[in-house]
Amino acid sequence: MSTTPSPHVVGDKEYKLSQQLKDKITDLSAQYPEKNSVIIPALHLIQDEFGWVPPAAMRQMAQLLNIASNTVFGVASFYTMFNNKPVGRYHIQICRNIACSLNGSKELLEHIMKKLGIQIGEVSNDGKFSVSTVECLGACGSAPVMMVNDVYYENLTEKKVDQIIKSLE
Ligand code: FES
Repeated sequence: MSTTPSPHVVGDKEYKLSQQLKDKITDLSAQYPEKNSVIIPALHLIQDEFGWVPPAAMRQMAQLLNIASNTVFGVASFYTMFNNKPVGRYHIQICRNIACSLNGSKELLEHIMKKLGIQIGEVSNDGKFSVSTVECLGACGSAPVMMVNDVYYENLTEKKVDQIIKSLE
């Protein structure tokens, strides 16, 4: 059994940007001539802090930078690198694009979901793992490929996946 934590599980208060994070975002914005250019790096900072990009934090960021919230939400939902809902401590993203599909990524995904007892978008009961699919990770030559947080794993087989998951447990 698995759960998909609701964005409301943790109170809004916990998604408040700290003064330190606000300062970092403000400093960052000074480096860009166009204020919208700071959205992506600022979203990375927010994701580093919370593990995902909570709407409350994005609204505060938009306000801080004087950018429309919808613009920030649009960027965050466009790029799969931003988690729009809470993820596990180890977020597995498996490539579903052509080279990886032809080399068995769909079967690997099934294997991972079965092994962890979760579906796409869910978080394991212990909060350790979540899984999603992504478009091309830019490593087609060593398909199938997945990322766990920021780490690439290439030329995957079920055996390799099992070893990776075991090393994270
Ligand atoms: S198709 Fe999977 S990395 Fe490019």
